[in-house]
Amino acid sequence: MSEHLSVEIAHRIMTVRFERPQKKNALTRDMYRGLVEAIKTVAEDDGLRVLLLTGSGDSFTAGNDINDFLQYPPSDEASPVNAFLAALPAIEKPFVVAVNGLAVGIGTTMLLHADLVYAAQSARFKMPFVDLAIVPEAGSTFLLPRMLGRAKASELLLLAKEFDAAEAEALGLVNAVVPDDELFERAMEAARALAAKPPQAVKLTKKLLRGHQEPVLKAMAEEGKLIAERIRSEEAREVFTAFMEKRPPKFD
Ligand code: COA
Repeated sequence: MSEHLSVEIAHRIMTVRFERPQKKNALTRDMYRGLVEAIKTVAEDDGLRVLLLTGSGDSFTAGNDINDFLQYPPSDEASPVNAFLAALPAIEKPFVVAVNGLAVGIGTTMLLHADLVYAAQSARFKMPFVDLAIVPEAGSTFLLPRMLGRAKASELLLLAKEFDAAEAEALGLVNAVVPDDELFERAMEAARALAAKPPQAVKLTKKLLRGHQEPVLKAMAEEGKLIAERIRSEEAREVFTAFMEKRPPKFD
């Protein structure tokens, strides 16, 4: 397991927490590998009923580590970020997320695969894929227009508009907005309620609620192919380098 993830098991719930607060919990390859491992453990262990994910410090996650994007651009399905993305729609047991702060990029798109999402009052969301000169991932280009309508999805994905917890709730992206200091307990309460229910009925109901996953998987494959190309583009490399050098990007 990654040094930047902590794992706790109690009440048949596995809680995984991002533990890289000094870097706003930006996700490294190592963290994606740890997440895939956690998802696999929950799937295989009959004693576990729910996966609960949250962050430490003031951020849920600032998204993919930009330095990793530069050094190890993901290429195929074996790349840790792609393995994590592929694992998300395949999670059969309930997946609960407590968004404790900033949720950027994959920090927001992974929520589209969660069953219940609770957001701290201070949470903020942003999907800046276009600004990074790449394209969105996690099937979000398929899921968001269907969940929010194309107008709103375009605002969030093309304009990359940041939004707060209240707006996320109004959009139906989160179940409830909770005072910051009550967030974890509230998410845990929901996880415990799920863990106490008949597990097979929960799994089957989740599957029915999700509907057919083929179009989501198809969108993910298309997005993944474009991201692999875009991430190596001059534009994207300029954005990533500019971020690391703490300067605005220049496009000549
Ligand atoms: N990848 C790598 N490092 C990151 C990061 C990321 N996605 N997000 C934040 N960090 C690092 C910063 O480089 C900084 O490191 P340093 O202290 O060694 O300089 C540290 O985390 C704190 O971030 P900072 O930018 O100083 O904090 P802030 O409060 O001013 O801004 C963000 C926070 C998240 C708004 C800003 O860091 C940001 O825009 N990050 C990039 C988000 C992004 O585009 N993610 C990719 C999505 S696919």
